[in-house]
Amino acid sequence: MQIEVTVNGKPAVWEVDNDAMLAETLRTHGFLSVRKGCDTSCCGLCTVWLDGKPVLSCTVLSFRAQGRQITTIEGLQPQAEEFARILAAEGAEQCGYCSPGFIMTVLALKQEISNPSEADIIHYLTGNLCRCTGYLGQMRAIKKYLGVA
Ligand code: FES
Ligand code: FES
Repeated sequence: MQIEVTVNGKPAVWEVDNDAMLAETLRTHGFLSVRKGCDTSCCGLCTVWLDGKPVLSCTVLSFRAQGRQITTIEGLQPQAEEFARILAAEGAEQCGYCSPGFIMTVLALKQEISNPSEADIIHYLTGNLCRCTGYLGQMRAIKKYLGVA
């Protein structure tokens, strides 16, 4: 089937299988920041935005994106780079494999919750796993980026 989507502000028409998942479809079309770890909604690596809200694209059928706005980290470069610099300065990035999905979730948090508490941050990021860092550096970086104590 054909779907019409807007990806990072640009319209696109894609041919997709009925059972194709959005993560794979995005990768097929060159959005290689979209990574996969579990394919079962458990790790957060595949996080993108659909109409401005974060979704786990490994378990969203591609046809569900028909007529909608998809945002990947390629479409949020200035904000992503600003936060990534803070992450690196806090020593919160090691292999970096989790970073695109993690950053997409942090940028969504910034839009959705003003002045979040540490508990709010932990709750919001609960679906984004990192096998390397132990999360303390990430928490410091998020607080610095959001300007919260
Ligand atoms: S690959 Fe989608 S949540 Fe893990
Ligand atoms: S930095 Fe390696 S998985 Fe997060």
